[in-house]
Amino acid sequence: MTIFTPYQLNKTITLANRIIMAPLTRCFADNDLVPTQLIAEYYARRAKVGLIVSEATIIDPLGQGYPNTPGIYTNKQIEGWKKVTQAVHEKGGKIFCQLWHCGRVAHSCYTQKQPVSASVTSWHGKVPRTENLEYEMAKELSIKKVKKLVKKYAKAAKNAIEAGFDGVEIHGANGYLIDQFLRQDTNKRQDKFGGNKKRRSRFALKIVKAVSQAIGADKTAIRLSPQAYVHLEYTKGDEKTYQHLLKKLNKLNIAYVHLGAFSDHYTFDYLDKGKASEFIRKYYKGNFISCGGYNINTANEAIDGSKADLIAIGRPLIANPDYMEKIKNNQDLVEYDMLMLSKLI
Ligand SMILES: Cc1cc2nc3c(=O)[nH]c(=O)nc-3n(C[C@H](O)[C@H](O)[C@H](O)COP(=O)(O)O)c2cc1C
Repeated sequence: MTIFTPYQLNKTITLANRIIMAPLTRCFADNDLVPTQLIAEYYARRAKVGLIVSEATIIDPLGQGYPNTPGIYTNKQIEGWKKVTQAVHEKGGKIFCQLWHCGRVAHSCYTQKQPVSASVTSWHGKVPRTENLEYEMAKELSIKKVKKLVKKYAKAAKNAIEAGFDGVEIHGANGYLIDQFLRQDTNKRQDKFGGNKKRRSRFALKIVKAVSQAIGADKTAIRLSPQAYVHLEYTKGDEKTYQHLLKKLNKLNIAYVHLGAFSDHYTFDYLDKGKASEFIRKYYKGNFISCGGYNINTANEAIDGSKADLIAIGRPLIANPDYMEKIKNNQDLVEYDMLMLSKLI
């Protein structure tokens, strides 16, 4: 078995190979947060991967934390995404939309409003891509607003299907809103959305269920970072919330769980002394995408050793639009450089 072996995700979706394009925020949407023709062409150039996961796409104006990140809540945005999904499908590819809300790492410079989160907390440091702006104190979401947000995720998922996506990946990773509900560092609530592992998992699970109901569990996926590596801190016991969540996800028959990580080389004492990918594989029995610093050899090893079913590749796909052709023909890859982020090649 290699990365070139097709993979049947479920009854409705079969992938041509086991390489997934990781979600990669590029900040090239227009000022109405609508994806452009250039974005459609950028994704179409990469359509030979088994599945593209789109850049994180905001489900609500209040969820924006970076400039020119696309949305999926207006008709114009749905129309913009149609160009992208059509271009990818014409090349024989498949594409999921990553659904995003930044929570407390959103900023009023984009939203004109105070950010919202599980509790009244703030992240420290400067907001990237701004001139020295600091992160702001978030307002706690009322239960009514939490429930409204769950509906917004479901509506965004329906919009994504209308826009031609093959499914959605709920962004539960990287310290954004859903992760903020999962963690003790950011969730201080004592109502039904906080206080213990079951209640901290409730927001994520409600979203997964609402999205599954709206578009089908076979088209619903989630990305998670059990290792807490960005935008929040680990607190002793968080791993129990993740174990609980992963066990619950086992029963929901979703398309896949995807590790959100920059590097899957590290081990963590609190993740049973193993890697974040091993932790997910241990507790989650469905389709699993690993990610974080893989190359073609380590990807093949992981798949052959059944450490993951699929491998997501991020930075090398920014640097090499023709990544699949190159690895098939054993050609050298261009090395990724951050300067490449200034242009869509
Ligand atoms: C420029 C850039 C943008 C990213 N944007 C997102 C994003 O929108 N959503 C997300 O879940 N992860 C995002 N990530 C993380 C990647 O999906 C991936 O986890 C990371 O790049 C590690 O994989 P790699 O070593 O193959 O690059 C981003 C990473 C980079 C470098």
